[in-house]
Amino acid sequence: MTTFVFEFDGTDYPVTGELGESVMIAAARHRVPGIDADCGGGCSCATCHVYLPSELEVPAAQDMELDMLDFADGLTEQSRLSCQVVVTPALQDARIVIPKL
Ligand code: FES
Repeated sequence: MTTFVFEFDGTDYPVTGELGESVMIAAARHRVPGIDADCGGGCSCATCHVYLPSELEVPAAQDMELDMLDFADGLTEQSRLSCQVVVTPALQDARIVIPKL
């Protein structure tokens, strides 16, 4: 298990993620607000947009995720779709920011 924090609208939401599940699923299980995940993790809605810490080492986004990110508001270099980021030990103590748009 890996513990990390979501930040949404000025409030911290600590979560514990199971290794191998998506960051979006960890957020949903802890009822973190701000991640709608309308497509249920199918990489076809961009409503699970988050900002990962720049120093975090996770596998790069694949083409399908990059294409869908084009539909996300507030896109930055740190933008990822949380349904496409897998929980690993690298996320321990990470702060993931959920855009408030
Ligand atoms: S939940 Fe739809 S793209 Fe992530």
